[in-house]
Amino acid sequence: MTAPEIRKKFLSFFKERGHAVVPSSPLIPDDPSVLLTTAGMQQFKPYYVGKADPQRDFGSLNATSVQKCFRTSDIEEVGDDTHLTFFEMLGNFSFGGYFKKEAIPWAYDFVVNQLGIDREHLYVTIFAGDADVPEDTESFKIWHETIGIPKDRIRRHGREDNFWGPTGSEGPCGPTTEIYVAANAEGARAGKGVEIWNLVFNEFYGKQDEHKKLVLEKLVVPGIDTGMGLERLAVMLQGAKNVFETDLFRPLMTAIHEAQQGLDDRVVRVLADHLRSSIFLIADGVRPSNKEAGYILRRLLRRILAYTIQYDIHADLFALAVPVVSGQFGDVYPEVRKTNEILAVLTEEKTKFERALALGMKEIERYETISAKDAFSLYETFGVPFELLQELAPAKVKGLKKEDLEEEIKKHQEISRAGAEKKFGGHGLILNTGELKASTPEEVVTVTRLHTATHLVQAALRKVLGTEVHQMGSDITAERARFDFSFPRKLTEEEVKKVEDLVNDAVSRDLPVTVQELPIEEAKKTGALYFFKEKYPERVTVYSMGDFSKEFCGGPHVTNTLKVGKFKITKQESVGAGVRRIRISVE
Ligand code: SER
Repeated sequence: MTAPEIRKKFLSFFKERGHAVVPSSPLIPDDPSVLLTTAGMQQFKPYYVGKADPQRDFGSLNATSVQKCFRTSDIEEVGDDTHLTFFEMLGNFSFGGYFKKEAIPWAYDFVVNQLGIDREHLYVTIFAGDADVPEDTESFKIWHETIGIPKDRIRRHGREDNFWGPTGSEGPCGPTTEIYVAANAEGARAGKGVEIWNLVFNEFYGKQDEHKKLVLEKLVVPGIDTGMGLERLAVMLQGAKNVFETDLFRPLMTAIHEAQQGLDDRVVRVLADHLRSSIFLIADGVRPSNKEAGYILRRLLRRILAYTIQYDIHADLFALAVPVVSGQFGDVYPEVRKTNEILAVLTEEKTKFERALALGMKEIERYETISAKDAFSLYETFGVPFELLQELAPAKVKGLKKEDLEEEIKKHQEISRAGAEKKFGGHGLILNTGELKASTPEEVVTVTRLHTATHLVQAALRKVLGTEVHQMGSDITAERARFDFSFPRKLTEEEVKKVEDLVNDAVSRDLPVTVQELPIEEAKKTGALYFFKEKYPERVTVYSMGDFSKEFCGGPHVTNTLKVGKFKITKQESVGAGVRRIRISVE
């Protein structure tokens, strides 16, 4: 049974039983207590508590949907047989229309008669009861007496397993009954199967108190919320070994394997998962950023891009994945058909990552050994994940364990939770050389481009105005960049134009930016420019941009002048006798 058939069968089954078919809501929920949509019930939260009227909104007290979901909790597990970030959930819901005695038999009927799963292979779990909520004896009766499931295939569990807590900090919640499928009858009796369907009986409204303890209040009208993962079902019904071998993933897996032969299957799985989920996030309006959902997207994309370096993948994975995912899912989720827009977002992030990474590589050179803190900062600032560090600088991270880094990440999360500075999770400036200041990786990229532009402009000014021109200072942030130099008068329009043209010409020649470390006296002999006033150390670094410019400098710079972009002088003014200031911009 193909995934499209499963979706269709599910929705028709519940439609025939008085449910309105409701489209999936976006992955960004209309619910401030959660970042992303993690369950099918999320879009229905207001209906359970009587804040919205289902009759008015979709003409029924019952609804059914196939919902796009995203869970970050499993992100590190992706690559094994089952875990995913993005997945689809089939669900039926009721807001006062029906309860256990309809929901359980329908679920059973669907599993056995529609999906054709052998009833001898099934077993179920029910809520065992605890100090606050009694045992679910009603579900037991329905499973045992109405449906005839033998007692030894009805298992009881506590809060951990058979109670659905609210999504976010508050919401409808309650005991669950879950349907498991084992490979055979013996497995079913032994309780060795996989959970396929979770039926939640929303009897309560749960809210965390200040000690994070869940306080339950009885809902006036109890509701039904069920969820069945489409991917897991596809594995079972298609006899696949794992989720990546089902029709939901095969096209993308094959496309990646074909584009780059010899890749480890686990790597391809991670790529396929992350590509698919990123495309869905972008289609729903998420954009890469440093916070909330945008940060999750950025993490996924960075991992994809880091993998392409780590595993030497030359294929353009974004260009490859977008049409595959769009073609495969566009009928069900029309938003993924916006292929141009999605690809543009991906490409822009790729460019940003590459720029940041080039800087990160330089940064890595500065370290003798890389501590957990350094590794964290390299990741946060330049997007260099631990795995890539191991690849790029194995000797420097020899003593560093992934757990140490995870510890550091946790610390950082605690800091940002403590409500420190919002921007960039608790950091202020992440780059401050005195001359350059930046507080996000994007800003690092911008100020670095501007910094390289100041070298080019100094060289151009000297070509146009004469070699008496010397840099007197500069001050660069992402918002503005100024460059001061010795010269007695205002530049004419023609001179400005000439300088701009020279710089833009050097940019378009895509000159390599190279760096050399030399003893100071030797460095001076190379003809590199330097500040006369400054006291330099024994050894200095000299940056060259092809044959166009050579200066003493501590960096950072872009790797090639093309990365500077289109250069402009936006303003000029005087700052005291013999010193001019220009403002510059790059596009
Ligand atoms: N809310 C439950 C789940 O997500 C049932 O839909 O598993």
